[in-house]
Amino acid sequence: MKHKPVLLREVIEFLDPKPGEFFIDGTLDGGGHAAAVLEKIMPGGKFLGIDWDKDVIAKRKVQMANRKNVILVSDNYKNVPMILKNKKLGKADGLLLDLGLSSEQLESSEKGFSFQRDEKLDMRYSEESKPVYKWLEKLKESELAKIIKDFGEERFAYRIARAIKKNLPIRTSKVLADIISGVVPKSYAHARIHPATRTFQALRIFVNQELKNLETVLNCIPEILNPHGRAVVISFHSLEDRIVKHSFRDLSKEGKAEILTKKPIVPSKEEVLDNPRSRSAKLRAIKIL
Ligand SMILES: C[S@@+](CC[C@H](N)C(=O)[O-])C[C@H]1O[C@@H](n2cnc3c(N)ncnc32)[C@H](O)[C@@H]1O
Repeated sequence: MKHKPVLLREVIEFLDPKPGEFFIDGTLDGGGHAAAVLEKIMPGGKFLGIDWDKDVIAKRKVQMANRKNVILVSDNYKNVPMILKNKKLGKADGLLLDLGLSSEQLESSEKGFSFQRDEKLDMRYSEESKPVYKWLEKLKESELAKIIKDFGEERFAYRIARAIKKNLPIRTSKVLADIISGVVPKSYAHARIHPATRTFQALRIFVNQELKNLETVLNCIPEILNPHGRAVVISFHSLEDRIVKHSFRDLSKEGKAEILTKKPIVPSKEEVLDNPRSRSAKLRAIKIL
């Protein structure tokens, strides 16, 4: 399924892109947000699109091959300052980060992101780390339990970790999901979310170092954006949102930025109905002073 851009109207409202400006999309994927930004900054604007998944960048390169002043790079967004330096791009007027993974990656990347599919348990956006199935073998039970508890906020983390270690090797997403379903209480198995949701989230965050990447790039915002530059971040779970909130608050306390969203912006009921994936989205925005 093609990924639908989340909170699109609000992203454009807070980024406020104008003709001639330079914008960065650090999580390009299907380019849904990017297309709306490009429409506003051209003519005369410049656009840097980044995605860690090289397949995503290869596809966008085919689609955007002839566009002037559009630069596409496969890299981790934590490296934005280095990319700007290497490509001699100067500071930008806007930065967008739409975190996590896309509907397309969930459904057709064959990387085992979804507990509803039977795929190799990989979960990496890029091949820099080891795939999840190898980590399950390498980590001690206590380390695995801590990852599931901290990054998944999963209350049955210890029993899930024990079951995983007992059932190794686990090579596919479906096998892992079934093991988790088998060890959590029956009542949990009938809750609103699938019992494997939190463990899958935790393993994905761990293997891609998602929270560290986010912290690193947010710490660099003053190096990335010009005065009056705008940054918008959309997060999908409380761990990410907490990092964004604290980082924006620190920048504001240091007098470096103005917070544009006192409370996070969430999707309307209509958007959630139209795109259930948007239901947990939270948007926060700042403007550099
Ligand atoms: C939710 S999607 C973005 C959707 C996009 N805004 C759109 O409208 O089509 C998130 C994307 O971020 C990418 N990604 C995740 N972590 C990343 C990182 N550290 N650096 C760069 N890209 C990353 C994923 O590969 C995925 O394509």
